[in-house]
Amino acid sequence: MSTIVHGQTALHANFGGVVPEIAARAHVEKLDTCVTQALADAGLSLADLDAVAVTAGPGLIGGVVSGVMLAKGICAATNLPLIGVNHLAGHALTPRLTDGIAFPFLMLLVSGGHCQFLLVKDHDDYTRLGGTIDDAPGEAFDKTARILGLPQPGGPSVQQAARGGDAKRFKLPRPLIAQDGCDMSFSGLKTAMIRARDAVIAEKGGLTLQDQADLSAGFQAAVADIIDRKSRWALAQYMAMNPPHPVLAVAGGVAANTEIRARLTALCASMDVAFVAPPLALCTDNAAMIAYAGLERFAAGQTDDMTLSARPRWPLDQTAAPMLGSGKKGAKA
Ligand code: KG4
Ligand code: ZN
Repeated sequence: MSTIVHGQTALHANFGGVVPEIAARAHVEKLDTCVTQALADAGLSLADLDAVAVTAGPGLIGGVVSGVMLAKGICAATNLPLIGVNHLAGHALTPRLTDGIAFPFLMLLVSGGHCQFLLVKDHDDYTRLGGTIDDAPGEAFDKTARILGLPQPGGPSVQQAARGGDAKRFKLPRPLIAQDGCDMSFSGLKTAMIRARDAVIAEKGGLTLQDQADLSAGFQAAVADIIDRKSRWALAQYMAMNPPHPVLAVAGGVAANTEIRARLTALCASMDVAFVAPPLALCTDNAAMIAYAGLERFAAGQTDDMTLSARPRWPLDQTAAPMLGSGKKGAKA
């Protein structure tokens, strides 16, 4: 009924990336005013609610703890049921909120911290078909922007700079692209970007706007090629299940990229698969997706109690072998 997003981009702008302590503090400062605003916009009070859903991970722990504590406070005061939601489930279920699509569907989750193909069989049943073995594409966009002197977040600024660029001028690698399966890798591409930039600077003493545009276009085309090729592998595995209404859906901030969207739209059209890309505001982090994922858990009778804790690591597919950030503490996502 209402969704309030209080972005923090400006707070982190001078640091070239998200500063965890600043992020945590901003959550503490803004959460209660966002909740008050959301209720006011919806014309509701706490007494009108049926439950409280909150992101319980995975993610930067300070912000997640702030949210979980606020939700517990509201539930303690009102006796409403508390529902802890996996942040990635919020992204993965968004196409059901926006387009009402049925299970099973194939989801490509591409954000600043994550990149994976998920077979979504139910709101709490996911199979990971593959994903990045190093950086997430959003992270690569952000680093590329930093390398080229473009503003953060990098996705939108690299996309903007790429508009007048020649994607073929620089030869950039597409790691793992020729390998079977739908695992991806972006870190070699990042290193190649640094080298390509340094070569231009060594030659001319700096980057012109055209150099920036060509490097941005080359990088974006490489990411789009990787995602396109690996989506073919994921779709082949999904189609082998004979889904009655095949759907590829995208979520996460990188799903906002117009070139990547165009490539996936064409790929799906060629395979008779519906392509669902939620509106941009629902692709990047937002409250509505968490409320919706909470609704699916609530409808299934799955609520939590006051022992709910914030989890920095919380894979959607608990059985898949860890890929990213797996150490003693287990898989990140
Ligand atoms: O899903 P999200 O809002 O946050 C999480 O990472 O959870 O995704 C943010 C990421 C950032 O890395 C940002 O640079 C990227 O999404 N992004 C884009 C675009 N818009 C945002 N990447 C490529 N093209 C875009 N248009
Ligand atoms: Zn996210």
